[in-house]
Amino acid sequence: MSPFLLTRTLPEDATDADLRADVLHGLTRTPKVLPPKWFYDARGSELFEEITRLPEYYPTRAEREILIARAPEIAAATRARTLVELGSGSSEKTRHLLDALPALESYVPVDVSESALTAAAASLLDERPALSVHALIADFTRGLALPGTPGPRLVAFLGGTIGNLLPDERAVFLKSVRSLLAPGDALLMGTDLVKDEATLVAAYDDARGVTAAFNKNVLSVIDRELGADFDPDDFEHVAVWDRQHEWIEMRLRARTALTVKIPELDIAVSFESGEEIRTEVSAKFRQDGVRRELGGAGLDLREWWTDGAGRFALSLAVAV
Ligand code: AVJ
Repeated sequence: MSPFLLTRTLPEDATDADLRADVLHGLTRTPKVLPPKWFYDARGSELFEEITRLPEYYPTRAEREILIARAPEIAAATRARTLVELGSGSSEKTRHLLDALPALESYVPVDVSESALTAAAASLLDERPALSVHALIADFTRGLALPGTPGPRLVAFLGGTIGNLLPDERAVFLKSVRSLLAPGDALLMGTDLVKDEATLVAAYDDARGVTAAFNKNVLSVIDRELGADFDPDDFEHVAVWDRQHEWIEMRLRARTALTVKIPELDIAVSFESGEEIRTEVSAKFRQDGVRRELGGAGLDLREWWTDGAGRFALSLAVAV
C-alpha cells in the first residue's frame, strides 16, 4: 500500500471568498481587471489543455522538448530526494522528471484544484508505488508551508506560469520559494522568452478561437458562481503585446455599452462601448532578467536551457 496524503491548506470556502473579493475589487476600479486564476474551472482547464495542443501555442511543446533533453542533467545536478511541484495541474510534464530521478522518495504536488491533484497522484502511484506522495491543496502565491520531506529538495515551477505575476509579485513569490529551501536545494523554472510580436500574439489569439473561448470562460465562471448575467458574446477577445513591459495582455472588450448585474455582490457594473477588462498578463523573459530576479531572492542561476528554436527556457537555480 503506497503512502498518499492530501493536505488542505485552503479552507473549503476560501475560493468563494477570494472570487468575490477579486470580482468586487477588479470590476469596480478603472481600468477593470480580473486575475487569471479564475479561468480554471473544469471547462477552463479543458480549454487550456486544448490550447497546449494548438499549432500557435508553442510554450508547452518547447518546454517538454527541454525537459526530455535535460532531465538526466537535472537529476545529476540536484540528486533530489523530494520533488515539490507548484501548480502541478495534470502532472504530464512531471513524468519526464520523475522518470529521470530514481533517487526520488517523495513527491509534493501543490495545486488549488483538488480534482487535478488526486487524478495526477493516482496515476503516478501506479507507476511508482514506492514513492510517497503528499499532495497539497494550496494557493502558492499566498505563502507556503511544506511537509517534512527528505532533502535535497527540488521545487519545479513549470509552464511559464511565473509570467502571470507582475514584477513585484514575482519578487515576493521567489522569496517565499527560497524560504522553503535549504542551501543547495534547487528551483527549476520555465519561462517563455521575448520574441517577435506576430508569434507572441498568434499564441494568444489562435485561428480556431480556443484562446478566445478560454478568455471568455471567466465570465461564465462569474455568472455561475455569483449569479451574474454576463453574455460572453457581448465581449471580444483581445491579445496585445506590451513592448515596454515585455508582456502579453489578454483583455475582454465590450462590443457595446452595457450593464451587468452581479446579484451575489449586490452590484451592477457598467461598461462603455469598447471598454476592456484585463484578464491576464503573461510576461516574457530574457536570461539577464531571470538571473537578476532569482538573485534578488537568494537563488543563483546555474543552468539556462532553451529549446532548439530558442523560444522558451528552463532555468535551474540553487539556493545560496
Ligand atoms: C498557463 C499561465 C502559462 O500564460 O501562456 C494560455 C495561460 N493564457 N493562453 C500562459 C494561457 C492564454 C498560460 N500559462
